[in-house]
Amino acid sequence: MREYISINGNLKRLSGEVRVNGAKNAALPILFATLLTDETCVLENVPNLEDISVTLRLLSHLGAKSNFQNKVVEITSKDIISTSTPYSLVKQLRASFWALGPLLARTGFAKVALPGGDAIGTRPVDLHIKGLKTMGAEIRMKHGAIIAHAPGGLNPSHIVLDFPSVGATHNLLMATSLTPGVSIIDGAAKEPEVIELVGLLKKMGAEIEGEGTSSIRVKGKEKLKGAKVFVLGDRIEAATYLIAGLVTGGEVKVSGIYPEALSSTLEILENMGGKIKKKENSISIKGTVEIKPVTFQTAPYPGLATDVQPLLMAALAKAKGTSSIKETVFENRFTHVGEYRRLGANISISSQVALVRGVETLSAAPVDATDIRAAAGLVILALQAEGRTDIFDIYHLDRGYDDMVEKLKSLGADIKRKIERGSEELVFGC
Ligand code: UD1
Repeated sequence: MREYISINGNLKRLSGEVRVNGAKNAALPILFATLLTDETCVLENVPNLEDISVTLRLLSHLGAKSNFQNKVVEITSKDIISTSTPYSLVKQLRASFWALGPLLARTGFAKVALPGGDAIGTRPVDLHIKGLKTMGAEIRMKHGAIIAHAPGGLNPSHIVLDFPSVGATHNLLMATSLTPGVSIIDGAAKEPEVIELVGLLKKMGAEIEGEGTSSIRVKGKEKLKGAKVFVLGDRIEAATYLIAGLVTGGEVKVSGIYPEALSSTLEILENMGGKIKKKENSISIKGTVEIKPVTFQTAPYPGLATDVQPLLMAALAKAKGTSSIKETVFENRFTHVGEYRRLGANISISSQVALVRGVETLSAAPVDATDIRAAAGLVILALQAEGRTDIFDIYHLDRGYDDMVEKLKSLGADIKRKIERGSEELVFGC
Protein backbone atom coordinates (compact mmCIF):
# COMPACT_ATOMS: atom_id res chain seq x y z
CA MET A 1 0.00 0.00 0.00
CA ARG A 2 1.54 3.30 -0.99
CA GLU A 3 0.38 6.85 -1.30
CA TYR A 4 0.88 8.80 -4.45
CA ILE A 5 -0.17 12.01 -6.12
CA SER A 6 -2.11 11.96 -9.32
CA ILE A 7 -2.07 15.01 -11.61
CA ASN A 8 -4.06 15.61 -14.76
CA GLY A 9 -1.80 18.22 -16.31
CA ASN A 10 -2.65 19.25 -19.86
CA LEU A 11 -1.36 22.76 -19.12
CA LYS A 12 -4.38 23.71 -17.05
CA ARG A 13 -3.83 27.40 -16.30
CA LEU A 14 -3.26 28.05 -12.59
CA SER A 15 -4.52 31.24 -11.05
CA GLY A 16 -5.11 32.65 -7.60
CA GLU A 17 -3.19 33.24 -4.42
CA VAL A 18 -1.43 30.92 -2.00
CA ARG A 19 0.23 31.70 1.29
CA VAL A 20 3.53 30.00 2.00
CA ASN A 21 4.32 28.32 5.29
CA GLY A 22 7.16 29.20 7.58
CA ALA A 23 10.47 28.02 6.16
CA LYS A 24 11.41 24.46 7.06
CA ASN A 25 15.11 25.26 6.67
CA ALA A 26 14.80 28.14 9.14
CA ALA A 27 12.57 26.32 11.62
CA LEU A 28 14.93 23.32 11.87
CA PRO A 29 18.10 25.10 13.10
CA ILE A 30 15.95 27.29 15.36
CA LEU A 31 14.51 24.14 16.95
CA PHE A 32 18.00 22.77 17.60
CA ALA A 33 19.07 26.12 19.07
CA THR A 34 16.44 25.72 21.80
CA LEU A 35 18.78 23.08 23.28
CA LEU A 36 21.06 25.95 24.29
CA THR A 37 18.82 27.09 27.14
CA ASP A 38 16.93 25.52 30.03
CA GLU A 39 14.21 28.13 29.56
CA THR A 40 11.13 27.94 27.33
CA CYS A 41 11.29 29.02 23.68
CA VAL A 42 8.27 29.74 21.52
CA LEU A 43 8.40 29.42 17.74
CA GLU A 44 5.51 30.76 15.68
CA ASN A 45 4.66 29.94 12.05
CA VAL A 46 6.31 26.51 12.14
CA PRO A 47 5.31 24.36 9.14
CA ASN A 48 3.54 21.09 9.80
CA LEU A 49 6.06 18.80 8.10
CA GLU A 50 7.57 15.39 8.59
CA ASP A 51 11.06 16.89 9.10
CA ILE A 52 9.70 19.02 11.95
CA SER A 53 8.05 15.98 13.61
CA VAL A 54 11.27 13.97 13.35
CA THR A 55 13.21 16.86 14.89
CA LEU A 56 10.76 17.19 17.77
CA ARG A 57 11.06 13.44 18.43
CA LEU A 58 14.83 13.74 18.41
CA LEU A 59 14.81 16.72 20.77
CA SER A 60 12.43 14.89 23.07
CA HIS A 61 14.90 11.98 23.20
CA LEU A 62 17.50 14.52 24.38
CA GLY A 63 15.19 15.83 27.11
CA ALA A 64 13.04 18.53 25.49
CA LYS A 65 9.38 18.82 26.36
CA SER A 66 7.40 20.34 23.54
CA ASN A 67 3.93 21.13 22.37
CA PHE A 68 3.18 21.75 18.67
CA GLN A 69 -0.25 23.16 17.88
CA ASN A 70 -1.60 25.60 15.32
CA LYS A 71 1.87 26.21 13.87
CA VAL A 72 3.27 27.17 17.30
CA VAL A 73 5.97 25.13 19.03
CA GLU A 74 6.53 25.71 22.71
CA ILE A 75 9.63 23.88 23.81
CA THR A 76 11.74 23.60 26.97
CA SER A 77 14.95 21.63 27.39
CA LYS A 78 15.18 22.09 31.15
CA ASP A 79 17.38 19.04 31.60
CA ILE A 80 19.42 17.30 28.95
CA ILE A 81 18.74 13.63 29.67
CA SER A 82 20.76 12.19 26.80
CA THR A 83 23.71 13.55 24.85
CA SER A 84 23.42 10.92 22.16
CA THR A 85 21.17 11.06 19.09
CA PRO A 86 19.61 7.77 17.96
CA TYR A 87 20.51 6.59 14.45
CA SER A 88 16.87 5.65 13.72
CA LEU A 89 15.94 9.36 13.77
CA VAL A 90 19.20 10.81 12.52
CA LYS A 91 19.18 8.76 9.33
CA GLN A 92 15.91 10.40 8.31
CA LEU A 93 17.24 13.91 8.56
CA ARG A 94 20.60 15.51 7.82
CA ALA A 95 19.68 18.50 9.97
CA SER A 96 19.89 16.21 13.01
CA PHE A 97 23.63 16.85 12.93
CA TRP A 98 22.82 20.32 14.29
CA ALA A 99 22.41 18.71 17.72
CA LEU A 100 26.22 18.50 17.86
CA GLY A 101 27.07 22.17 18.48
CA PRO A 102 24.39 22.89 21.10
CA LEU A 103 24.93 19.64 23.03
CA LEU A 104 28.67 20.11 23.13
CA ALA A 105 28.41 23.74 24.24
CA ARG A 106 25.82 22.97 26.91
CA THR A 107 27.10 19.67 28.32
CA GLY A 108 30.68 19.26 27.10
CA PHE A 109 29.81 16.00 25.35
CA ALA A 110 27.88 14.81 22.31
CA LYS A 111 27.55 11.62 20.35
CA VAL A 112 25.77 12.28 17.10
CA ALA A 113 25.24 9.64 14.43
CA LEU A 114 26.40 10.64 10.96
CA PRO A 115 23.44 12.17 9.18
CA GLY A 116 21.09 10.95 6.48
CA GLY A 117 18.67 13.16 4.55
CA ASP A 118 18.35 13.63 0.80
CA ALA A 119 20.46 11.60 -1.58
CA ILE A 120 21.90 14.64 -3.33
CA GLY A 121 25.58 14.10 -2.74
CA THR A 122 28.08 12.74 -0.26
CA ARG A 123 27.33 15.71 2.04
CA PRO A 124 30.33 15.44 4.38
CA VAL A 125 30.46 17.15 7.79
CA ASP A 126 34.18 17.97 7.84
CA LEU A 127 33.56 21.74 8.11
CA HIS A 128 31.38 21.32 11.20
CA ILE A 129 34.06 19.16 12.81
CA LYS A 130 36.99 21.37 11.83
CA GLY A 131 35.21 24.39 13.32
CA LEU A 132 34.43 22.65 16.61
CA LYS A 133 38.00 21.32 16.81
CA THR A 134 39.22 24.91 16.40
CA MET A 135 37.12 25.66 19.49
CA GLY A 136 39.03 22.99 21.39
CA ALA A 137 36.70 20.00 21.06
CA GLU A 138 38.22 16.54 20.87
CA ILE A 139 36.40 14.70 18.13
CA ARG A 140 36.62 11.14 16.85
CA MET A 141 34.42 8.89 14.80
CA LYS A 142 33.36 5.47 16.04
CA HIS A 143 30.60 3.06 14.97
CA GLY A 144 29.11 5.56 12.52
CA ALA A 145 28.87 8.38 15.05
CA ILE A 146 30.83 11.53 15.81
CA ILE A 147 31.90 11.55 19.44
CA ALA A 148 32.85 14.99 20.72
CA HIS A 149 34.26 16.02 24.12
CA ALA A 150 34.99 19.43 25.54
CA PRO A 151 35.21 18.66 29.27
CA GLY A 152 36.50 22.11 30.23
CA GLY A 153 34.10 23.85 27.82
CA LEU A 154 34.68 25.18 24.32
CA ASN A 155 37.01 28.14 23.69
CA PRO A 156 36.01 31.29 21.83
CA SER A 157 37.91 31.08 18.54
CA HIS A 158 38.56 32.41 15.07
CA ILE A 159 37.03 29.83 12.75
CA VAL A 160 37.55 29.83 9.00
CA LEU A 161 35.16 27.86 6.76
CA ASP A 162 36.66 26.83 3.41
CA PHE A 163 33.14 26.77 1.88
CA PRO A 164 30.10 28.74 3.11
CA SER A 165 28.25 25.65 4.35
CA VAL A 166 24.82 26.56 5.69
CA GLY A 167 24.79 23.63 8.12
CA ALA A 168 28.31 24.25 9.46
CA THR A 169 27.50 27.95 9.93
CA HIS A 170 24.38 27.00 11.93
CA ASN A 171 26.26 24.49 14.10
CA LEU A 172 29.09 26.92 14.82
CA LEU A 173 26.77 29.86 15.51
CA MET A 174 25.00 27.74 18.12
CA ALA A 175 28.23 26.50 19.70
CA THR A 176 29.87 29.95 19.81
CA SER A 177 26.74 31.61 21.24
CA LEU A 178 26.99 29.48 24.40
CA THR A 179 30.78 29.86 24.66
CA PRO A 180 31.73 32.95 26.70
CA GLY A 181 34.02 35.32 24.78
CA VAL A 182 34.35 36.58 21.23
CA SER A 183 34.41 34.16 18.30
CA ILE A 184 34.67 35.02 14.61
CA ILE A 185 33.26 32.79 11.88
CA ASP A 186 34.89 33.71 8.55
CA GLY A 187 33.65 32.22 5.29
CA ALA A 188 30.16 31.95 6.82
CA ALA A 189 27.03 31.23 4.79
CA LYS A 190 24.88 34.31 4.07
CA GLU A 191 21.54 32.54 3.56
CA PRO A 192 18.35 34.16 5.00
CA GLU A 193 17.99 31.07 7.24
CA VAL A 194 21.33 31.95 8.89
CA ILE A 195 20.02 35.45 9.57
CA GLU A 196 16.89 33.94 11.11
CA LEU A 197 18.88 31.66 13.40
CA VAL A 198 20.95 34.66 14.49
CA GLY A 199 17.70 36.50 15.22
CA LEU A 200 16.81 33.83 17.77
CA LEU A 201 20.32 33.61 19.24
CA LYS A 202 20.35 37.38 19.79
CA LYS A 203 17.00 37.21 21.57
CA MET A 204 18.45 34.43 23.71
CA GLY A 205 21.21 36.80 24.80
CA ALA A 206 24.15 36.25 22.44
CA GLU A 207 25.67 39.40 20.93
CA ILE A 208 26.12 38.82 17.21
CA GLU A 209 27.18 41.09 14.33
CA GLY A 210 27.76 40.50 10.63
CA GLU A 211 25.03 37.93 9.89
CA GLY A 212 24.24 38.01 6.17
CA THR A 213 27.94 38.69 5.43
CA SER A 214 30.79 36.18 5.24
CA SER A 215 32.25 37.28 8.59
CA ILE A 216 30.14 36.85 11.71
CA ARG A 217 31.28 38.03 15.13
CA VAL A 218 29.70 36.26 18.09
CA LYS A 219 30.06 37.35 21.70
CA GLY A 220 28.92 34.19 23.42
CA LYS A 221 27.44 33.95 26.90
CA GLU A 222 27.75 31.57 29.87
CA LYS A 223 23.98 31.14 29.89
CA LEU A 224 21.28 31.85 27.31
CA LYS A 225 17.63 32.56 27.98
CA GLY A 226 14.30 31.58 26.46
CA ALA A 227 12.95 33.58 23.51
CA LYS A 228 10.08 33.86 21.06
CA VAL A 229 10.46 34.05 17.27
CA PHE A 230 8.27 34.05 14.18
CA VAL A 231 9.60 31.87 11.36
CA LEU A 232 9.62 33.76 8.04
CA GLY A 233 8.06 32.40 4.85
CA ASP A 234 9.62 29.55 2.90
CA ARG A 235 11.44 30.95 -0.15
CA ILE A 236 11.71 27.56 -1.86
CA GLU A 237 8.02 26.82 -1.39
CA ALA A 238 7.28 30.29 -2.80
CA ALA A 239 9.47 29.55 -5.83
CA THR A 240 7.60 26.28 -6.39
CA TYR A 241 4.18 27.94 -6.74
CA LEU A 242 5.56 30.81 -8.82
CA ILE A 243 7.11 28.30 -11.22
CA ALA A 244 3.82 26.35 -11.37
CA GLY A 245 2.09 29.61 -12.35
CA LEU A 246 4.77 30.42 -14.91
CA VAL A 247 4.74 27.14 -16.83
CA THR A 248 0.96 26.89 -17.04
CA GLY A 249 0.67 30.42 -18.42
CA GLY A 250 -1.29 31.34 -15.32
CA GLU A 251 -1.34 34.21 -12.84
CA VAL A 252 -0.26 33.25 -9.35
CA LYS A 253 0.34 35.39 -6.29
CA VAL A 254 2.41 34.01 -3.43
CA SER A 255 2.10 35.78 -0.10
CA GLY A 256 3.94 35.50 3.21
CA ILE A 257 7.34 35.94 1.58
CA TYR A 258 9.69 38.90 1.25
CA PRO A 259 10.91 39.13 -2.38
CA GLU A 260 14.60 39.91 -1.62
CA ALA A 261 15.05 36.34 -0.39
CA LEU A 262 14.30 35.14 -3.92
CA SER A 263 16.11 37.77 -6.02
CA SER A 264 18.24 35.35 -8.08
CA THR A 265 15.30 33.06 -8.78
CA LEU A 266 13.03 35.94 -9.80
CA GLU A 267 15.64 37.22 -12.25
CA ILE A 268 15.72 33.82 -13.95
CA LEU A 269 11.93 33.54 -14.01
CA GLU A 270 11.82 36.94 -15.75
CA ASN A 271 14.42 35.79 -18.28
CA MET A 272 12.21 32.75 -18.94
CA GLY A 273 9.34 35.06 -19.86
CA GLY A 274 7.52 35.52 -16.54
CA LYS A 275 6.20 38.96 -15.60
CA ILE A 276 6.93 39.52 -11.92
CA LYS A 277 5.40 42.00 -9.50
CA LYS A 278 6.91 42.37 -6.05
CA LYS A 279 5.31 43.81 -2.96
CA GLU A 280 6.68 43.97 0.56
CA ASN A 281 5.18 40.64 1.55
CA SER A 282 4.17 38.98 -1.73
CA ILE A 283 5.26 38.14 -5.26
CA SER A 284 2.99 37.72 -8.31
CA ILE A 285 3.82 36.11 -11.61
CA LYS A 286 2.08 36.20 -14.96
CA GLY A 287 3.21 33.13 -16.82
CA THR A 288 3.62 32.06 -20.42
CA VAL A 289 3.63 28.74 -22.20
CA GLU A 290 6.33 30.11 -24.52
CA ILE A 291 9.18 29.59 -22.04
CA LYS A 292 12.52 31.07 -23.13
CA PRO A 293 15.67 28.96 -22.59
CA VAL A 294 18.18 30.24 -20.02
CA THR A 295 21.70 29.54 -18.77
CA PHE A 296 22.44 29.66 -15.06
CA GLN A 297 24.39 28.07 -12.26
CA THR A 298 23.58 27.41 -8.63
CA ALA A 299 25.70 29.08 -5.95
CA PRO A 300 25.66 29.86 -2.25
CA TYR A 301 23.38 32.80 -1.34
CA PRO A 302 22.91 35.39 -2.79
CA GLY A 303 23.43 33.16 -5.83
CA LEU A 304 20.71 30.87 -7.14
CA ALA A 305 19.63 28.37 -4.46
CA THR A 306 20.50 24.79 -5.34
CA ASP A 307 17.08 23.78 -4.00
CA VAL A 308 15.42 25.69 -6.87
CA GLN A 309 17.50 23.96 -9.55
CA PRO A 310 15.30 20.83 -9.96
CA LEU A 311 12.23 23.10 -10.16
CA LEU A 312 13.71 25.34 -12.84
CA MET A 313 14.92 22.33 -14.77
CA ALA A 314 11.35 21.02 -14.84
CA ALA A 315 10.12 24.44 -15.97
CA LEU A 316 12.60 24.46 -18.87
CA ALA A 317 11.55 21.07 -20.26
CA LYS A 318 9.30 22.67 -22.88
CA ALA A 319 11.33 25.84 -23.45
CA LYS A 320 11.81 27.09 -27.00
CA GLY A 321 15.47 26.11 -27.21
CA THR A 322 18.29 24.64 -25.11
CA SER A 323 19.03 25.67 -21.55
CA SER A 324 22.24 25.04 -19.63
CA ILE A 325 22.28 24.44 -15.87
CA LYS A 326 25.47 24.12 -13.84
CA GLU A 327 25.14 22.67 -10.32
CA THR A 328 28.01 23.94 -8.18
CA VAL A 329 26.77 23.30 -4.62
CA PHE A 330 26.07 19.53 -4.54
CA GLU A 331 27.98 17.07 -6.69
CA ASN A 332 25.06 14.69 -7.20
CA ARG A 333 22.03 16.89 -7.59
CA PHE A 334 20.84 15.58 -10.96
CA THR A 335 19.39 12.33 -9.59
CA HIS A 336 15.92 13.48 -10.67
CA VAL A 337 16.86 13.57 -14.36
CA GLY A 338 16.06 9.90 -14.98
CA GLU A 339 12.46 10.40 -13.81
CA TYR A 340 12.13 13.70 -15.71
CA ARG A 341 13.11 11.81 -18.87
CA ARG A 342 10.28 9.34 -18.27
CA LEU A 343 7.86 12.22 -18.83
CA GLY A 344 9.59 13.06 -22.10
CA ALA A 345 12.12 15.68 -21.02
CA ASN A 346 15.26 15.77 -23.15
CA ILE A 347 18.12 16.28 -20.70
CA SER A 348 21.77 15.29 -21.00
CA ILE A 349 24.32 15.49 -18.22
CA SER A 350 28.02 16.03 -18.52
CA SER A 351 29.76 16.31 -15.17
CA GLN A 352 28.12 19.21 -13.27
CA VAL A 353 26.27 20.61 -16.31
CA ALA A 354 22.80 19.63 -17.54
CA LEU A 355 21.62 20.58 -21.01
CA VAL A 356 17.84 20.77 -21.26
CA ARG A 357 16.61 20.71 -24.85
CA GLY A 358 13.04 21.98 -24.91
CA VAL A 359 10.51 19.48 -26.31
CA GLU A 360 7.11 20.11 -27.92
CA THR A 361 5.17 17.83 -25.59
CA LEU A 362 5.59 16.00 -22.32
CA SER A 363 3.51 12.91 -21.76
CA ALA A 364 2.26 11.55 -18.46
CA ALA A 365 3.84 8.48 -16.87
CA PRO A 366 4.18 6.90 -13.42
CA VAL A 367 7.30 8.35 -11.76
CA ASP A 368 9.15 8.10 -8.44
CA ALA A 369 10.32 11.09 -6.41
CA THR A 370 13.96 10.92 -5.31
CA ASP A 371 14.18 13.88 -2.90
CA ILE A 372 12.07 16.83 -1.73
CA ARG A 373 12.74 19.22 -4.58
CA ALA A 374 12.87 16.45 -7.19
CA ALA A 375 9.36 15.53 -6.06
CA ALA A 376 8.23 19.13 -6.52
CA GLY A 377 9.97 19.20 -9.91
CA LEU A 378 7.93 16.19 -10.98
CA VAL A 379 4.78 18.08 -9.99
CA ILE A 380 5.88 21.01 -12.20
CA LEU A 381 6.47 18.62 -15.11
CA ALA A 382 3.18 16.80 -14.55
CA LEU A 383 1.27 20.10 -14.74
CA GLN A 384 2.68 20.55 -18.25
CA ALA A 385 2.33 16.93 -19.40
CA GLU A 386 -0.45 15.49 -21.54
CA GLY A 387 -2.45 12.97 -19.51
CA ARG A 388 -2.39 11.78 -15.90
CA THR A 389 0.92 11.51 -14.07
CA ASP A 390 1.14 9.46 -10.89
CA ILE A 391 4.01 10.46 -8.61
CA PHE A 392 5.13 7.83 -6.08
CA ASP A 393 7.44 8.01 -3.04
CA ILE A 394 5.72 11.24 -2.07
CA TYR A 395 6.98 11.00 1.51
CA HIS A 396 9.78 13.14 0.09
CA LEU A 397 7.21 15.84 -0.68
CA ASP A 398 5.73 15.58 2.82
CA ARG A 399 9.16 16.31 4.28
CA GLY A 400 9.15 19.77 2.70
CA TYR A 401 5.66 20.81 1.59
CA ASP A 402 2.69 21.29 3.90
CA ASP A 403 -0.64 21.03 2.01
CA MET A 404 0.79 21.16 -1.51
CA VAL A 405 -2.13 19.23 -2.98
CA GLU A 406 -4.69 21.57 -1.41
CA LYS A 407 -2.77 24.67 -2.41
CA LEU A 408 -2.41 23.60 -6.05
CA LYS A 409 -6.06 22.58 -6.11
CA SER A 410 -7.02 26.06 -4.89
CA LEU A 411 -5.10 27.45 -7.87
CA GLY A 412 -7.14 25.24 -10.20
CA ALA A 413 -4.88 22.21 -10.65
CA ASP A 414 -6.46 18.80 -11.18
CA ILE A 415 -4.49 17.01 -8.47
CA LYS A 416 -5.39 14.31 -5.95
CA ARG A 417 -3.67 12.39 -3.25
CA LYS A 418 -4.44 8.67 -3.52
CA ILE A 419 -3.61 5.37 -1.90
CA GLU A 420 -2.66 2.39 -4.01
CA ARG A 421 -3.53 -1.05 -2.63
CA GLY A 422 -2.37 -3.60 -5.14
CA SER A 423 -4.59 -3.14 -8.18
CA GLU A 424 -7.23 -1.32 -6.10
CA GLU A 425 -7.08 2.49 -5.98
CA LEU A 426 -8.71 4.67 -3.36
CA VAL A 427 -9.07 8.41 -3.60
CA PHE A 428 -7.73 9.92 -0.39
CA GLY A 429 -9.06 13.01 1.29
CA CYS A 430 -11.21 14.40 -1.51
C1 UD1 B 1 21.15 23.23 3.64
C2 UD1 B 1 19.70 23.03 3.31
C3 UD1 B 1 19.54 22.45 1.90
C4 UD1 B 1 20.28 23.33 0.90
C5 UD1 B 1 21.72 23.57 1.32
C6 UD1 B 1 22.47 24.54 0.45
C7 UD1 B 1 18.59 22.54 5.40
C8 UD1 B 1 17.91 21.55 6.24
N1 UD1 B 1 19.11 22.10 4.25
O1 UD1 B 1 21.77 21.93 3.63
O2 UD1 B 1 18.16 22.40 1.58
O3 UD1 B 1 20.26 22.70 -0.37
O4 UD1 B 1 21.76 24.10 2.68
O5 UD1 B 1 21.81 25.76 0.39
O6 UD1 B 1 18.67 23.72 5.73
N2 UD1 B 1 29.86 20.46 2.74
C9 UD1 B 1 31.10 19.95 2.98
N3 UD1 B 1 31.48 19.77 4.28
C10 UD1 B 1 30.68 20.11 5.32
C11 UD1 B 1 29.42 20.64 5.06
C12 UD1 B 1 29.02 20.81 3.75
O7 UD1 B 1 31.85 19.64 2.06
O8 UD1 B 1 31.11 19.93 6.47
C13 UD1 B 1 29.41 20.62 1.34
C14 UD1 B 1 28.20 19.73 1.04
O9 UD1 B 1 28.58 18.43 0.72
C15 UD1 B 1 27.58 20.46 -0.12
C16 UD1 B 1 27.88 21.92 0.19
O10 UD1 B 1 28.93 21.93 1.13
O11 UD1 B 1 28.21 20.08 -1.32
C17 UD1 B 1 26.69 22.68 0.76
O12 UD1 B 1 26.27 22.06 1.95
P1 UD1 B 1 25.57 22.87 3.13
O13 UD1 B 1 25.55 24.33 2.77
O14 UD1 B 1 26.20 22.48 4.40
O15 UD1 B 1 24.09 22.32 3.06
P2 UD1 B 1 23.22 21.73 4.22
O16 UD1 B 1 23.36 22.57 5.44
O17 UD1 B 1 23.43 20.27 4.31
